[in-house]
Amino acid sequence: MRTRTLLSQVLAVNTGLVAATAIVAALLAPEKAGDAASAQRLLLIALAVVSAVLLNTILLKRRLAPLDRLIQTMERVDLASPGQRAKAHSTAPREIQRLTADFNRMLTRLEEERVEGGRAVIRAQEEERARIAQDLHDEVNQALTAILLRLQAAGHDVPPGLRLELKEIQTLATQAMEELLTLARTLRPTALDDHGLVPALASQVADFGDRTGIRSTFHRHGDLPNLSDEEQLVLYRVTQESLSNVVQHSGASAVRVELSSIGRTVLRVRDDGCGFKPGGRTGRLGVSGMRERALLVGGRLNVFSAPGEGTTIELTMGAS
Ligand SMILES: Nc1ncnc2c1ncn2[C@@H]1O[C@H](COP(=O)(O)OP(=O)(O)OP(=O)(O)O)[C@@H](O)[C@H]1O
Ligand SMILES: [Mg+2]
Repeated sequence: MRTRTLLSQVLAVNTGLVAATAIVAALLAPEKAGDAASAQRLLLIALAVVSAVLLNTILLKRRLAPLDRLIQTMERVDLASPGQRAKAHSTAPREIQRLTADFNRMLTRLEEERVEGGRAVIRAQEEERARIAQDLHDEVNQALTAILLRLQAAGHDVPPGLRLELKEIQTLATQAMEELLTLARTLRPTALDDHGLVPALASQVADFGDRTGIRSTFHRHGDLPNLSDEEQLVLYRVTQESLSNVVQHSGASAVRVELSSIGRTVLRVRDDGCGFKPGGRTGRLGVSGMRERALLVGGRLNVFSAPGEGTTIELTMGAS
């Protein structure tokens, strides 16, 4: 059964009451002689009922309009786009003003909790990455170094037929060490701490180009304002995930990374690949993770893409 609106329910009750009152009044009124007089009386009663119902509808609609607006805002609100609030006009009924204020307070609390929760998750993730990077560097890298040294020492004593084999094993071990160090650097961007954001981004983009063969350029405009460690990390990680998507999904031949600090700080990663239709829920963590990170530092992430048109990921810091 279709649920009826509050307005139609109140109207139905009121109409019933008005009609019942009119019927009782008609029955109780003293009889006047003549058909014309009673027809006139009936007409008057019908007119009174219709105008009472009409007036009732107009008044109720006006009184319930703020509730309708509040419901529409509640349905529209999305915590992923914070800052939306319900508005109640000062002429709205007191209950609706209270409901609006309570709803807005609840939104503020939810947004704060969401940011706090997200921050804790990302902090834990970064700490875990740093720990794994340290372990890779300290344990696995040391072990590989020891293997290399022993291979070098053994190289002097082995028969000449085995030397070539040993050399190849050494090359493999050296490659494994390099890959390991690259992995450790990806996990923990020490370049950020050591050299600062701009050189760290420039070297990330250059490494990406070398590794993938995709023409990769880094451009910078304006003077970078003082950014917190968290903001710098967000810029670094968004670049990292965007580039990883470029190589995984776009088939691009060129990618341009741009960091502009004219007015607001904006990071743009633009590729000339196949593009895609953004907006659908993929259940993957890349784009949604970038969006979450952006929100944590009060920023905003936009994805501009369409099939066949390439993709631009835009991170605006401190967006309102
Ligand atoms: N630069 C791009 N070019 C073309 N398609 C893209 C690009 N970036 C993202 N996509 C599309 O958007 C989808 C979602 O990307 P997202 O990074 O969220 O997930 P993923 O890369 O598939 O997995 P994950 O990042 O979790 O390992 C991708 O599967 C891909 O179809
Ligand atoms: Mg991805």
